[in-house]
Amino acid sequence: MHNSIQLEEDFYYVGASDSRIQRFENMFPLDNGVAYNSYLYLDEKTCLLDTVDNAITDIYLENVKHVLNGRGLDYLVINHMEPDHCANIDTICQLYPTVKLVGNKKTFELFEQFYTTEFRDRYHLVNNEDTLSLGKRELKFIFAPMVHWPEVMFTYEKTSATLFSADAFGSFGKLMGAVFSDELNFDELYLQEARRYYINIVGKHGRQVQNTFKKLEGLEIKMICALHGPIYRNKQHIDLMLSKYQTWSSFQVEEAGVVFVYASMYGNTENVVNHLATMLAAKGVKNIRMYDVSDTDTSFIIADMHRFSHTVFGLLTYNTELYHNMQNLIECAVGTGFSGRKVSYLVNQSWGGKALPIAQEILAKAKDIETIGEPLYIKSSLKEEQLPELAALADAIYSSYQQ
Ligand code: FEO
Repeated sequence: MHNSIQLEEDFYYVGASDSRIQRFENMFPLDNGVAYNSYLYLDEKTCLLDTVDNAITDIYLENVKHVLNGRGLDYLVINHMEPDHCANIDTICQLYPTVKLVGNKKTFELFEQFYTTEFRDRYHLVNNEDTLSLGKRELKFIFAPMVHWPEVMFTYEKTSATLFSADAFGSFGKLMGAVFSDELNFDELYLQEARRYYINIVGKHGRQVQNTFKKLEGLEIKMICALHGPIYRNKQHIDLMLSKYQTWSSFQVEEAGVVFVYASMYGNTENVVNHLATMLAAKGVKNIRMYDVSDTDTSFIIADMHRFSHTVFGLLTYNTELYHNMQNLIECAVGTGFSGRKVSYLVNQSWGGKALPIAQEILAKAKDIETIGEPLYIKSSLKEEQLPELAALADAIYSSYQQ
C-alpha cells in the first residue's frame, strides 16, 4: 500500500525507510534503519529525483504510481549513481517508456557499468550549471564530485529554493511518520547519526565537499532534500547543518573533549583508562567518551574522534604487535581523514612488543597530529608508584584541553 507524503503543492516525498537492514554498505551497523529518499514533482512535466534501494522497491513503485495518478513520467534526475539510490532506474524505464534519464557523463558510465546499455536513447546529458524547465519550476544542476562518488550532482529548484543534495546532509535512521526535521526529535535521533554518516562515508573527501559548497555560496536555500534522513525546511536546522558541514569538511574540532579508545583483555588497561578519566573529570573535563574497541563499532568511535579535540589510546600488545581491533580502528580513522587532533598514549605490554610504534606509524599518515604528554607504559597492571606519572599525563592533557 502506497505511503507518499505531500511536501508542497505538486511536490511529493515518494521514498521509504528500511528498518530491517542491519548494516549500511554491509559495514556500518544500523540500530534504527535508514531512509531512502526520493522526490516527485507534478508540473507541466513530471519529474522524479533519484530512485531507491531495492530493499524498498515495492512501496516505492506504488508511491510513484499513486502520486502520478495516471500521468506519465517525463524525467528521472539521477543525482547519485550508487545502488542504494539507483537500483530502480531500470524498472522505472520499463514502467514509464517515455521517461528521460537526466545525468552527466559519469552518471551514465556508472549506470552502464552497474546495469545496462539498453536505455541509451533515454539519456538527457547535462553539464554543470545546466538548467531544465519543468513548467513553473526550473531545475539547475550543480556538479558535486566526490560528495560521495565522482558522478554526484546536486539539483537546485529555483522557485522554491530547494536543494536536492544527494548524500550530503544525509543521516542514518529510518523516518518515523514525519519527514521534516522540525517535526521529529532531530537532536536526539538524527544529529549524531548525521555526523556518523558524514564522517565515515564522505569524511575523507572534505576538500571536495568544501569545493562544492563554494558553488552554493550566495544561493538562497529554503529546503534541503537529502537522499537519507530528514528533510530540512526550518531555518535553524538548515543553518545548523550548513555550519556542521563546514566544520566536518574542514576537519575542525567541533568541541573540546577527550575520547578514550582502548583495548583490554583482562581489565587492566581499562583500569588505567578509568584512572586517567577520573583525574581529568576531577579537573573539570566534561566531555569524556570511553570506548572499548572490542565492544563498539569503529564508525561510532571515529565520529567522536572527529568531534572532539583529544583522543587517548589505551594500547595493548598482542602477539608482540598491536591488538588487532585497535589497529583496525586507527587505520579506519586515518582513512576518514582524521587530522588536526591531539593524542596521548597508555601502553600495556607485559613483556615488550610493538603496540606503540605500530600505532604511531599508522597515525604518521594523518596530518597535524600532536602528541600530548609522555606515553605511560604499564607492565600488565597499573602500580601505585606510577600514579604520579599518570597525574603528569593528566596535567598535560588538561593544560592542552584548556587552550
Ligand atoms: Fe546513499 Fe553514496 O549513497
